[in-house]
Amino acid sequence: MSFHAIDQAPARLNRSELAVPGSQPQMFEKAAQSDVDVIFLDLEDAVAPDEKEQARRNIIKALNEIDWGTKTMSIRINGLDTHYMYRDVVDVVEQAGDRLDLIMIPKVGTAADVYAVDMMVTQIEDAKGMKKRIGFEHIIETALGMQNVSEIAAASKRNESLHFGVADYAASTRARTTIIGGVNPDYSVLTDPDVNSTRETHWGDMWHYALARMVVAARANGLRPIDGPFGDFRDPDGYRAAAKRAAVLGCEGKWAIHPSQVALANEVMSPSDAEVEKAGRILTAMAEAEAAGKGAVSLDGRLIDYASIRQAEVLVEKARQIAA
Ligand code: GLV
Ligand code: MG
Repeated sequence: MSFHAIDQAPARLNRSELAVPGSQPQMFEKAAQSDVDVIFLDLEDAVAPDEKEQARRNIIKALNEIDWGTKTMSIRINGLDTHYMYRDVVDVVEQAGDRLDLIMIPKVGTAADVYAVDMMVTQIEDAKGMKKRIGFEHIIETALGMQNVSEIAAASKRNESLHFGVADYAASTRARTTIIGGVNPDYSVLTDPDVNSTRETHWGDMWHYALARMVVAARANGLRPIDGPFGDFRDPDGYRAAAKRAAVLGCEGKWAIHPSQVALANEVMSPSDAEVEKAGRILTAMAEAEAAGKGAVSLDGRLIDYASIRQAEVLVEKARQIAA
């Protein structure tokens, strides 16, 4: 291990994160009743310019008046390149900061963007004598943000998570997409005719590099990597496949842009009973190995060692959080 210790963000469940437009207050109660882990009330791209102020008022009222239970509550503020952003921060944190856990910063491009919002939030919290510190979630969704992802991830002690905003990322990089977060048949390989006369097409995941790069920056800074939207809410199988790819790479959650996607995210991002049971057996086997002076043993015909303990502990801890 490096001598450099990585501080971990507060341990929050973030398997599912539901986007709810601030301009649609009739959706708030249903979101509050859902099984989602995190809700972000949106002031940015789901809200038209002439609805921004009303959306802000709706969100302040809702944060103060609706019973959100134990859900983690976030707002997505407008981008730093708009004049809406400062009022989003000032008004919502001043008037509803007590029930706000996180602020989501869209299209974050540089560490200085994070610094600017941190400075504002710190002043408001100090002026209001607020005890709780609001955390930050950052959407990595531009080429600039991806280029600077490591600096962004390290830019503030408030940072909790990085989110892959695939829709804007595609726009920013001019990627050729089909549906938001989906796959493109053109991103594929054709098998070699010398090896296989019946040539086959194997589809690839065009988001692999971006997601993997973001996961590394997040984990190297103790943050949660979260996969963003999947646009076709009538395609649960497509959603599940995208969520599984993200989970395999290390993401611990995925957005839901429709309430029906919450259960899918929770399902894919929760360890299965079999995985938890296996993790328990790994920990027992390693404890016995250690007592016998061994660093590695075999379990079910496979080698396990100290790295297996760390993986098993992560899984058992996740199961404990879910059960809590
Ligand atoms: C999310 O904001 C996205 O652009 O995908
Ligand atoms: Mg976006």
